[in-house]
Amino acid sequence: MNITYLRGNNSFKLDTDNTSYVIGIVDSEGFIGHAYYGAKIPNDNVTYLMRTNENPLVPSLNGRDRSSFLDTFPTEFSGNNVGDYRESSINIRDKNGASGIQLLYRGYRIINGKPKIKGLPATFSDEMNAMTLEIDVEDVNLGVKGTLSYSIFNNSDAITRSIRIKNVSDNIIYLDKLMSMCMDMDDDDYRMLVLHGSWARERHIEYRKIGHGKQSVSSIRGESSHQEHPFIALVGENTTQSYGDVYGFNFVYSGNFLGQVEKNQFNSLRVVMGIHPENFGFKLDTGDEFYSPEVVMVYTNQGLGHMTRTYHDLYRNHLIRSSYLRKPRPILINNWEATYFDFDNEKLLDIARTAKECGIEMLVMDDGWFGNRKDDNSSLGDWWVNETKIKGGLKKLVEDVNEIGLKFGIWFEPEMISPDSRLYRQHPDWAIAIPGRIPCRSRNQYVLDITRKEVRDYAYNCVAKILKSANIEYVKWDMNRQLTDISSACLEADRQGELIHRYVLALYEMQERLIAEFPNLLLENCSGGGARFDPGMLYYSPQIWCSDDTDAIERLSIQEGTSLIYPLSTMGAHVSVCPNHTVGRVTPFDTRGNVALAGTFGYELDVTKLSEEDKEAIPQQIATYRKFNKLIREGDYYRLASYSENNYYDCYQVVSKDKSEALITFVQVLNQPNMHSIKIKLQGLDDNKIYKIEGKEETYHGETLKKAGILIERLNGDFQSKLLHLIEQ
Ligand code: GLA
Repeated sequence: MNITYLRGNNSFKLDTDNTSYVIGIVDSEGFIGHAYYGAKIPNDNVTYLMRTNENPLVPSLNGRDRSSFLDTFPTEFSGNNVGDYRESSINIRDKNGASGIQLLYRGYRIINGKPKIKGLPATFSDEMNAMTLEIDVEDVNLGVKGTLSYSIFNNSDAITRSIRIKNVSDNIIYLDKLMSMCMDMDDDDYRMLVLHGSWARERHIEYRKIGHGKQSVSSIRGESSHQEHPFIALVGENTTQSYGDVYGFNFVYSGNFLGQVEKNQFNSLRVVMGIHPENFGFKLDTGDEFYSPEVVMVYTNQGLGHMTRTYHDLYRNHLIRSSYLRKPRPILINNWEATYFDFDNEKLLDIARTAKECGIEMLVMDDGWFGNRKDDNSSLGDWWVNETKIKGGLKKLVEDVNEIGLKFGIWFEPEMISPDSRLYRQHPDWAIAIPGRIPCRSRNQYVLDITRKEVRDYAYNCVAKILKSANIEYVKWDMNRQLTDISSACLEADRQGELIHRYVLALYEMQERLIAEFPNLLLENCSGGGARFDPGMLYYSPQIWCSDDTDAIERLSIQEGTSLIYPLSTMGAHVSVCPNHTVGRVTPFDTRGNVALAGTFGYELDVTKLSEEDKEAIPQQIATYRKFNKLIREGDYYRLASYSENNYYDCYQVVSKDKSEALITFVQVLNQPNMHSIKIKLQGLDDNKIYKIEGKEETYHGETLKKAGILIERLNGDFQSKLLHLIEQ
């Protein structure tokens, strides 16, 4: 890793292990251009790639065609309304209401380590393991200064980008848009890979052709969303898991986002990513600063798999802070699919007793334990225990559960308020709503305006009070509706556009407070399943509930898309009953276990109602979890085959960092008649090590297993699965 200023050609070069990123400063005005991002190159002058010696020439040589230059120049951060007609990265309205901005180069710093981004989650590092380039920029006319930040990490091919800007003028200015990054590059026939979805089928991999004009992913729902994901990859025409070009862009943020690729008249691409400009605006008084969230970029010419492992390692080493990251999580049983709202302390204790016999370690009490909550129509905000259901109170229940030998966890939805709640009757103005307009209900609930300190404090203190009242060791923090009616009773008219971003900052502040006050708590984030599964939330919780869909087959696609970027140890995954409550599918109990093993692993069923056969299978599943969890949590992940692509079977592999063992999970989704065995070429093994599949006699070199592969016999039936454990001899 290194960052170099190449004085001779006024350029900056960031080198990671295998990649280089080159920024060039051009013309007397100081335009900041993008010269190169790709495989690592020597310190040659590659600023010619910005084509500034071709027509259209730089403005100092050709002032009459300034726009021709600005509209084609590959910039690091596009301006607005001054000649570049492609997507702007920043819009600012001045005191007269005019918007025009071009941030120009002023100076730089190269720093060891990585400065924090105020109020926002971000990758972090000590001074030894990261370097940061800060480029100072300015628009003199507006009186705006800014800093473009780029960080690189030891032993990683990731580069992070963000920007902060400051109003140094004597006037108020309005920030209407701020992308976190912008990058222009030639289109070498890339496809766009995105993660698309819906409730119960989040993050399915989808490829799109890049046509002229703009194509994007976005959310204006107040969260990163089920539907689209703050991630784009540009993928070469022939790229596979182990070969070819990939540029990944992932946004470390949990609110509205825009990620966009624009192909222009000269077939070059502009990638931008940042907070979605819709309904966004920030008023900056003299001296005020605004910090953008960061984007994590990964380039590789070694295929999607290398990109995946780069994100996994970066997020494990430099993003997720929880001490649980490298620990086995307690095997929990959650009562949501077991009981929904229909439970009492006796029912929970029955589940706990049987769970204990099976080897389960924690009971999580889900939605329905508070206020007058009988269904999803009431009581959010009334965070006191419902003693009709939980007779004797929460402390007593937790003691009883602990007595049985299980830990205890609890569900909250702190950001919400039911119209039918004591809280709403007392504080109707605490709900986000536009004055005079009946706000839109979703799941019959409103969203609390947590940007107001008193509201945030109330919601936080409710959670903290419950946590202090009993021995609670886990919290599932849910968020079951998206934002509408964006308006705050406490913001001035010209600050209403700040609400959604302030909401996300407030959420981060609450979670920061929670993990600081309860450092031993295991926090699992959730949002109607996986609508807020993003790197921002991983800064606070080591795991996120991946989806409300617990069907093993649907989970193959959801977990394939999620694990494209996020470590397996972050994916909340449970075994549930069949027919599955969401899709009605019946799959074997061991396949449900094998698929959940690729995540945090746990149960979401009424264990007292299981067949004896399934109940007896649980201790074996738990033993398998214990045997492989460290490998799954900390190893390198390789995608070997995808059911979404072949409509037949799914196969993935986790290899330990020292390459001494590997676990291969094979799921035959649909049986096919009259077929021979399936050949799978393994990946990631040491060529020279000798391996054996547990339970078999023959030994093979890693090189053979990679080049010649293994044969997996066809299994009898649909939805069948198999684990293969490879051990070094
Ligand atoms: C969301 C969660 C579920 C469950 C319910 C409770 O949908 O994703 O796991 O907690 O809320 O209402």
